Amino acid sequence: MAEPRSWQAETALLGNADPSDPTGWFEPLWASAKDGAVTMPWDRDDPHPALAAWPNSPDLGTASGTAVVVGCGLGADAEHLSLLGYETTAFDISPAAIAAARARNPGSAVTYAVGNLLDLPRDWISAFDLVVEIFTVQAVNRRVRGGLTAGVRSLVAPGGILLAIQAIAEKGDDDGPPWPLTQPEIEAFGTDGLSAVSIEGLPDYASPSPLGLWRAEFRRS
Ligand SMILES: C[S@@+](CC[C@H](N)C(=O)[O-])C[C@H]1O[C@@H](n2cnc3c(N)ncnc32)[C@H](O)[C@@H]1O
Repeated sequence: MAEPRSWQAETALLGNADPSDPTGWFEPLWASAKDGAVTMPWDRDDPHPALAAWPNSPDLGTASGTAVVVGCGLGADAEHLSLLGYETTAFDISPAAIAAARARNPGSAVTYAVGNLLDLPRDWISAFDLVVEIFTVQAVNRRVRGGLTAGVRSLVAPGGILLAIQAIAEKGDDDGPPWPLTQPEIEAFGTDGLSAVSIEGLPDYASPSPLGLWRAEFRRS
């Protein structure tokens, strides 16, 4: 069998910057990875280090309430939240990604589901005590940024927390993917009833941006 092609190179062929279908490239990419034609994208078994080191994280097994992971890919962050104690849902727009997440985590307590941030099921709105969003918004071109950000916000329950981890951009441009977030773009999570608890710039974490990562926490009153 031929060596898998690099998924990073594949994204351009799939039209990753096509503004008329900004999320259309994810499913063919994940499906090609599942078939072994390209390497597995966003492949990690451990929680993102900026999530694992989140200072306000509950200790292992002590969390209560519901959590959701947006654009969950292979599920490492969702498995982490489940081990903390959250009743965890994790969704991705790509059915192939969700199939790969289920295959990678047999016996998991996480509910994996296909879902689109731009067209969320009604019963997920305001349903989660913790919402974790890592690298989904930045993976989609700016044409739908406002809708994706609003979708993330809408998942947070009254009194709930949103944790967003995204690469930092000094100014917004169209040169992606990814399309890292400017300061106003990360602050935009803190509207419509949410307010910022902290917005940190973490220069030392591995990031697609030389400026590092935002780790931003918001709370709904
Ligand atoms: C850059 S990857 C990050 C994956 C994972 N969060 C991680 O950090 O490894 C972005 C993920 O978001 C998913 N995605 C893109 N647009 C989405 C949407 N509108 N709704 C839900 N998931 C989406 C993609 O299929 C992909 O798995």
